[in-house]
Amino acid sequence: TPSAFAAEPVLDFEAIAPQATDSVFIPEGWEQDIVMRWGDKLFSTAPDFDVMAQTAAAQAQQFGYNCDFLGFFELDAETELMMVNHEYTDEYIMFPDYVAGAPTEEQVNIGLAAHGLSVVAVSKEAGSGRLTPVLDHELNRRFTATSKFELTGHAAGHELLRTTEDPSGTVVRGTLNNCAGGLTPWGTWLTAEENFNQYFANAEQVTDEPAATRLARYGLRGGQTERGWELFHDRFDLTLEPNEANRFGWIVEVDPFDPDSTPKKRTALGRFKHEAGTVAIAADGRAVVYSGDDERFDYVYKFVSDDVADLDGGAAANADLLDRGTLYVARFDGNSGTIADGGQLPAYGAFDGTGEWIPLVHNDESFVDGFTAAEVLLFTRLAADTVGATKMDRPEDVETNPVNGRVYLALTNNTNRTVEQVDEANPRSSNKHGHVIELVPGGEDHASTTFGWNVLLLAGDPADPSTYFAGYDKSQVSPISCPDNVAFDSNGNLWISTDGNKLGAHDGLYEVIVDGENRGRVRQFLSVPNDAECCGPWVGDDRVNIAVQHPGEGDEASFDAQTSHWPDGGDSVPRPSIVSIWPTVTPSPSPSPSPSA
Ligand code: FEO
Ligand code: CA
Ligand code: CA
Ligand code: CA
Repeated sequence: TPSAFAAEPVLDFEAIAPQATDSVFIPEGWEQDIVMRWGDKLFSTAPDFDVMAQTAAAQAQQFGYNCDFLGFFELDAETELMMVNHEYTDEYIMFPDYVAGAPTEEQVNIGLAAHGLSVVAVSKEAGSGRLTPVLDHELNRRFTATSKFELTGHAAGHELLRTTEDPSGTVVRGTLNNCAGGLTPWGTWLTAEENFNQYFANAEQVTDEPAATRLARYGLRGGQTERGWELFHDRFDLTLEPNEANRFGWIVEVDPFDPDSTPKKRTALGRFKHEAGTVAIAADGRAVVYSGDDERFDYVYKFVSDDVADLDGGAAANADLLDRGTLYVARFDGNSGTIADGGQLPAYGAFDGTGEWIPLVHNDESFVDGFTAAEVLLFTRLAADTVGATKMDRPEDVETNPVNGRVYLALTNNTNRTVEQVDEANPRSSNKHGHVIELVPGGEDHASTTFGWNVLLLAGDPADPSTYFAGYDKSQVSPISCPDNVAFDSNGNLWISTDGNKLGAHDGLYEVIVDGENRGRVRQFLSVPNDAECCGPWVGDDRVNIAVQHPGEGDEASFDAQTSHWPDGGDSVPRPSIVSIWPTVTPSPSPSPSPSA
């Protein structure tokens, strides 16, 4: 039950109307600046970005493509450390002379270098939200699809993780398709490997079992990949390196404060299309990581560590924390009886119920019949299929509200759900616009194996009778479609960024009040450029940051026929970028002239 606590907005703005401009459209009284664009350098040794003279060596020292997760740690009063991941690349609008299916070796290697992670110090301008990258800062780092990563936890070293290059099964080159993520209270960064399947070729030639079933369940299929990395790198060809794909699909932990650290792929958190990894602390101090698997009809998971987190000890004191613990998958039980035709609302207007976290594996102990512990970790989807977990409408970002302690889960959409397949937690068939679930940990303890839940929002045009805004007056809310990433401001208001708005306007960023009489009020804060999705977001008390991902990613687009020219304008190529937005400071009246002047 929502508390009576009335959350006040932190940021002062008038909701904008839905937009379709090739810009970041912000409310009156706010201003904006680009923090970093694709190709901007982190190191002075890198060349300035020149779209006609790209090289892999340059890209490895420049900001990568398709920024998604965005987080900041404060370094000092003037400087913050910005963490951004680079989910994937759009070669057809990145490169002149790109031939689909027949990339050059240099184009492939630029693509590898444009993936991964960026850690960049940024300096803050006094009195504004402007952030400027600090070139050559000692903590600046770029991790690409060829950087060194270490596998840790029970599955590390397993024979299905060993390759020609790495007979130990513990050292991986690269991270791929990092989507949302989270910052830990001990000062590290979790980033989630999502759609890793798209990088591995020739699954269709793997017919032996159980390999074929495992590949299929993770969406690995077909012959040549779209990017064709396997044409130049054998490890992306499943017929040559059948285990390489098993080394992706993990939660990665980065220690951004140690410039020599090797990021760790934490096998104890399972392998799936991780959308996010968000840490909460249980009543007894153990760490809990929530994570969704972004696929139609896939699951929501959480990991509970064995050990207590050392919140003051930094990365070193928690170096193995996420290597030992229990992985659970969620079952959502409805308690409102049957759901009416086509997923219409129950008469009383809300979907809610209880749920259970079903244990899958604890270190070397499997709880799933027919699976060893390592198999549960490596093929978590197949293990979860056998235990009655609830198939959700594409679980995207999940995050804990720092004020009310509840967990918010964005379910972006699922147009494949039939009338027969609706359940109370996924109550709409052909769910085009998605929904948001609020989860209440049992006993207000994140380690509890039970929870309560309710549907906070059923997104869409408020005029659509299948929408629901927690009972708030639908004439007073912004239309919203396809919730993806979530964040909170300091009063515990929920901020939702969207991906794939099906209402005809562009994606954007929205504030949602979740407590008090305005619970369910949705107000659109900004709108992103042509064909972009809004990622990040990061919401402070005096500044908002977003990651504008894939501007110009149109079906008809090409390098010579771009559908977006943001942010550089003219006939420029679109460049995925981080944006800072802040309220215009009203100038104080000029001081009176001094009598002595
Ligand atoms: Fe990368 Fe599920 O969004
Ligand atoms: Ca996402
Ligand atoms: Ca988030
Ligand atoms: Ca998405």
